[in-house]
Amino acid sequence: MVTVVVGTQWGDEGKGKIIDTLAGQHDIVARYQGGANAGHTVVWNNQKFVFHLIPSGLLHHNVVGVLGNGVVLDPFSFFHEMTDLENRGIDFTNRLFIAENAHLTLPYHKILDQIEDNKRGKEKLGTTGRGIGTTYADKYGRIGVRVADFLNEEVFVKKLNIALELKNYLFQQYYRESTINVEQLVEEYSKYRKKFRELAIDVSAYLNDAIEHGKTILAEGAQGTFLDIDFGTYPYVTASNPISGGACTGLGISPKKITKIIGVAKAYTTRVGMGPFPTEIKDDLNEKLRTAGNEFGATTGRPRRCGWFDAVIVKYAAMLNGLDELIITKLDVLSGLKTIKVGVKYYYKGDEINKYPLDTNVFENVEVEYKAFQGWDENISSVSDFYHLPANAKKYIEKIEELVNTKITAISVGSSRDQIISR
Ligand code: GDP
Ligand code: IMO
Ligand code: MG
Repeated sequence: MVTVVVGTQWGDEGKGKIIDTLAGQHDIVARYQGGANAGHTVVWNNQKFVFHLIPSGLLHHNVVGVLGNGVVLDPFSFFHEMTDLENRGIDFTNRLFIAENAHLTLPYHKILDQIEDNKRGKEKLGTTGRGIGTTYADKYGRIGVRVADFLNEEVFVKKLNIALELKNYLFQQYYRESTINVEQLVEEYSKYRKKFRELAIDVSAYLNDAIEHGKTILAEGAQGTFLDIDFGTYPYVTASNPISGGACTGLGISPKKITKIIGVAKAYTTRVGMGPFPTEIKDDLNEKLRTAGNEFGATTGRPRRCGWFDAVIVKYAAMLNGLDELIITKLDVLSGLKTIKVGVKYYYKGDEINKYPLDTNVFENVEVEYKAFQGWDENISSVSDFYHLPANAKKYIEKIEELVNTKITAISVGSSRDQIISR
């Protein structure tokens, strides 16, 4: 059994919390794309954990975590994260593996990501600066360095020389930055080799064997549907495929093996970084929601832009990902609002458009038609049964379900593992 969990908005939907909640009933949690740009928060035993590369389910001590080939793996970030978690009592012995064919994010990818984004000036994407786009660019440019290359020092040196030939020229002649010294980099990174050798496996073969033996796998998506490189608000996107299809290419499993696809959506919408956001709230309420929802980036600390729930995009996400069900998070954050709005329709130059437009130039200029709902005042963060929610909260959930045409199977009302209502 393979269940894919995917974000249906612009990331930060609460995937980490949902993965942690579901992981207890699974054997393996597998990250399939993205890199250290992700920040997945889990609150357990009153402690907060933020996962960047390590799968979010590993607080359950018998769950195995794997990083698939679709992930871009920054060894520096990975080891820091691993050490921090180990220092907090998490034991990874024999239960953490990385794909030998995953690409490495190396220091020059991060430097280039930051200077390239700054160079765009007004057209800046606002990337996380974690070297994501530049690592994927090298992967597709066939000058990437993979885990297996790194394991053999001679091959690593050869690959670095190929990758750095043009980059060092650019650093020196164009960006006026210092160049990367291959020997120094090889020396600095040699401390990671022993550990990488222990962790590197053929993840595809491992997962297919696990499936064969009846194990249950949770595929953890990072980012969200509208940050997808193909279907998101290009160019204001990440450089991978967070959508459910990415789980197949990013883990090496056949689409025939996927048994369930779960979407995660916030009860409102947030976005961090630049790019169009039709239901963004332009008045004081933006700040109010940010404070109530503690909407600050888990990776970069940047304030997140806040807006109303956009049923048009989530409906598109349901189609694109083939959602079997939807989980709504952060419903508790909406308590106390007199009116809650939901974007239900777009107009472009006066004409109604009945779905999310793939043309970003259109999407940037749509006008949104809203439906307004009456709010509720009660604090709902300890409600554990759908029927005990305030009537208006129930109505809100039922209406979203109808608008996005997908069964809502759970509602999260707080950041802790137990603050969830199953339906
Ligand atoms: P992810 O990237 O999708 O895993 O989401 P993030 O961890 O970046 O952001 C979600 C934030 O909301 C985190 O701070 C979570 O602890 C928090 N969170 C998750 N679910 C809920 C919820 O139902 N209610 C509240 N108030 N906070 C939540
Ligand atoms: P999780 O997994 C929200 C955004 C960045 C930027 C754009 C491109 O926690 O939901 P990148 O560094 O990927 O090249 O940046 O994508 N972004 C995210 N926004 N949640 C994330 O991850 C994100 N990862 C990248 O802010 O706009
Ligand atoms: Mg996040």
